[in-house]
Amino acid sequence: MIRINENYTKLKASYLFSDIAKRVSAFVAANPSKPVIRLGIGDVTEPLPAVCVEALHAATDEMAKRETFKGYGPEQGYAFLREAIAAHDYAARKCPIEADEIFVSDGSKCDCGNIQEIFGTDIRLAIPDPVYPVYLDTNVMAGRTGGNVDGRYTGITYLDSTPANGYVPAIPATAADLIYLCFPNNPTGAVATKAQLAAWVAYAKKNQAIILFDSAYEAYIRDPAIPHSIYEIDGARDVAIEFRSFSKTAGFTGTRCAYTVVPKSLKAFDAAGKEHSVHALWNRRHTTKFNGVAYPIQKAAAAIFTPEGQKQTRALTDFYLGNAKLIREAMGKLGLPCVGGDNAPYIWINTGRDSWEFFDLLLDKAQVVCTPGAGFGKCGEGHVRISAFNSRANVEAALTRIAAALK
Ligand code: MLT
Repeated sequence: MIRINENYTKLKASYLFSDIAKRVSAFVAANPSKPVIRLGIGDVTEPLPAVCVEALHAATDEMAKRETFKGYGPEQGYAFLREAIAAHDYAARKCPIEADEIFVSDGSKCDCGNIQEIFGTDIRLAIPDPVYPVYLDTNVMAGRTGGNVDGRYTGITYLDSTPANGYVPAIPATAADLIYLCFPNNPTGAVATKAQLAAWVAYAKKNQAIILFDSAYEAYIRDPAIPHSIYEIDGARDVAIEFRSFSKTAGFTGTRCAYTVVPKSLKAFDAAGKEHSVHALWNRRHTTKFNGVAYPIQKAAAAIFTPEGQKQTRALTDFYLGNAKLIREAMGKLGLPCVGGDNAPYIWINTGRDSWEFFDLLLDKAQVVCTPGAGFGKCGEGHVRISAFNSRANVEAALTRIAAALK
């Protein structure tokens, strides 16, 4: 008889955003005359930058001619894109990252979910709470945790992000081997200073650990003192992997393109204590299971790095940050404390109420979808996340409706 991977039985029945989508569909079916505004899942609404659309068209034309047609590309990504990333996202910020340390992929969700495969199943994990659910769920699937007891999986060091620590978790007292960090943070929108990241790099060095640094939202940083990459910290290339995405930078959530940086100096060990190159392991995994991102999509991504592309993507992130500012101001007027939204597209609101109840209230009374904080972990209870990804008209209408609902 075929057996299942029983680790899956430890998981909640559905992924957070599928669960919310189901609830919203049920509400829409029952209330067809009440239009819903979605500020839940962080999905972009504005069209692709014009430079990306032009590059897509041109690359599609190349695919239509025998002389320029392309079949399989390099699994790690075309050199034109990897070199543009290395120059603009790393060399320009004085980060010592080479083009061949960059792996282009179809999304950071996949990469930060898949990366754990190359590490042992008995490693010690440190995972933030609240957290982007992918980090946690993929480790549950792989059998690195016990069951869920009182809202938390056993066998994990949770890094609490609370109002008391400004939603930036402290370094744990105990050692961990694999540490997940995300800044600007999803879901809280909090950012980490250089000193805070340096402390994590020192902790990882001391424990021969690896940091998985998700910086999918770095394009939203406006404070010049905040690092965009973990590699801005001295020594980080010996202890960190970084995930970046074009989804929120340039509206690629539907187009799919991202990249992961695995420095060649990064080492991990086998049971006998022998050193192995993490870059070589990830290259082995990536080339075995992935055949690369479509050529036209990579051309569209490379267009982001042209001067015009930089201007257009900046305008796009500025636009969503404008929405975020309106959301923050509206929450302030309602007396609801919040963080995020200044260097991130998410606003994390301390409602002081049960987060699913607050979600239901906004849906029923305002027809606005948010994300209940409890869905991101125990420390998310009492909070909701509002995403700035929508049109200005929808954000303004949502804020008017929320104000009326909370009167
Ligand atoms: C979110 O809403 O947290 C994001 O859309 C997640 C993602 O990018 O997968």
